[in-house]
Amino acid sequence: MSEFPPIRKAVFPVAGLGTRFLPATKSIPKEMLPIVDKPLIQYAVEEAVEAGIDTIIFVTSPKKRAILDHFDSDVKLQSSLLAQGKHDLYERIAEIVPAHVSTDYVIQKEALGLGHAVWCARQQVGDEPFAVLLADDLIRAPQSGCMKQMVDEYYATGAGVIGVQQIPASMTDQYGIVAVEKNSDGRDYIRAIVEKPAPEVAPSNLGVVGRYILPGEIFRLLELVRAGVGGEIQLTDAIAIQLATWPLMAHAFDGVRYDCGSRKGFIRATLSYALEHDELREDLLAFFKNANEVN
Ligand code: UTP
Repeated sequence: MSEFPPIRKAVFPVAGLGTRFLPATKSIPKEMLPIVDKPLIQYAVEEAVEAGIDTIIFVTSPKKRAILDHFDSDVKLQSSLLAQGKHDLYERIAEIVPAHVSTDYVIQKEALGLGHAVWCARQQVGDEPFAVLLADDLIRAPQSGCMKQMVDEYYATGAGVIGVQQIPASMTDQYGIVAVEKNSDGRDYIRAIVEKPAPEVAPSNLGVVGRYILPGEIFRLLELVRAGVGGEIQLTDAIAIQLATWPLMAHAFDGVRYDCGSRKGFIRATLSYALEHDELREDLLAFFKNANEVN
């Protein structure tokens, strides 16, 4: 047992506009787009549940009911699958939310940025450390999922954890970038974090990906940041202040991340997951070999 408070709650901000996927995302949330046959948000929820999370909090926009519907039980569909003898599908639908996991939601009325979206969940989260997962960062890990790896780091140290990966130096202006220092325990602790620096001034090429374990105090800091800006509220700004009072480490996770917020990343993920899929691999390989043949 760890001496630190358990990480039981996870916030899933899903209220963004998803402009890079318009017109597909005009009425469908980006997080409901499927990779093979499962929506992005379901991969992220499964990763959180594997990490021991039992309370899922969606931050959603007033127009997007689809995500809440997806995680609600659908008795009619389930009984019709049973009646048709489709037991495998029945199981897959019935197990979308395991019995010990509860879901809740809060509305972000206006898309004022990721920091604001997280801040919207303050009442549901309370004071304890909690996880944040951005479902458009899809991470396939060879063994433990990315969030499980991060939760293990938290239980070992009590520090906050931010998922990072090495990115090309030319792309620092698309990420939050951290400067780290190795501690005596061999872990990388964050000294500074900056949002989208130009390559010439970036403190490193460690880019933040959409996985965080943060203290409940972050809500107070988000409130502070909120008071100081007019437009988008950046989570990075609150984390930068947080560094003064709470250690945060950078976890370079074991796994592959697909940036499914971009079309390129989304298509790569689709192909990669399809190639891993027993029922699809052969057909896909054959298709690439004879792409011009009618089938
Ligand atoms: P993105 O930066 O990818 O923005 O958000 P976006 O609006 O979803 O997509 P584009 O850039 O217009 O194509 C990262 C995550 O934060 C959530 C998004 O839903 C996504 O999961 N988010 C962003 C919110 O919940 N609210 C916001 O105000 C902004």
